[in-house]
Amino acid sequence: MNFTLSDEAVEHAAAIESLVDTAFGPARKTRTVYQFRDGIPPATNLCYVALSNDGDMLGSIRFWPVLMPDGGQGVMLGPLAVLPDLRGQGIGKALVAHGIAGTRAAGYGGVLIVGDRGYYAPFGFREEKVANLELPGSVAPLTFMGLEFEEASLSRLSGMVLPFRETAEQSV
Ligand SMILES: CC(C)(COP(=O)(O)OP(=O)(O)OC[C@H]1O[C@@H](n2cnc3c(N)ncnc32)[C@H](O)[C@@H]1OP(=O)(O)O)[C@@H](O)C(=O)NCCC(=O)NCCS
Repeated sequence: MNFTLSDEAVEHAAAIESLVDTAFGPARKTRTVYQFRDGIPPATNLCYVALSNDGDMLGSIRFWPVLMPDGGQGVMLGPLAVLPDLRGQGIGKALVAHGIAGTRAAGYGGVLIVGDRGYYAPFGFREEKVANLELPGSVAPLTFMGLEFEEASLSRLSGMVLPFRETAEQSV
């Protein structure tokens, strides 16, 4: 399957909503991670889509800003979704790699995620990096992980990660 990765654009929003609904089902908005997204715009400079040659939406990755316990701005990966019929062809991994590179280039010291260990550990996400961080709700065991670009950027922090309520400029 040929696909290209692009920055998410405003006109992609409806297709992404449909894709994410299909991937996670209607209960997705009850998940703890949704608290970070409810009423808060994603880090729009860090959201990417995989498109077919015809411009059809095949996959999406988004990142949300979060408030770290030290008052700094962090970033959380997700949701990541690929069209069901096109899974297993590398689109998801390409989106994750591209997204991680984007967050690093943007100057973040690390990335948080609530996701499947088996999928994200190969990218370097580890539970121990967030051992002293908490989320405002429950998540499945071993799914909260962090990836550090700078030594101890996440592991030195302790306390609650909260929704990033500022809607102003989302610079690091
Ligand atoms: C997870 C998802 C984005 C992967 O996209 P994809 O394009 O199929 O992924 P890739 O083709 O790059 O990678 C496929 C590999 O990941 C593995 N994989 C897929 N989902 C996995 C999971 N939840 N846990 C562990 N491994 C997983 C596949 O078994 C496959 O392994 P292989 O390369 O050894 O054959 C896609 O399955 C999806 O949209 N799922 C529903 C939404 C979701 O669960 N999102 C992630 C939230 S953590």
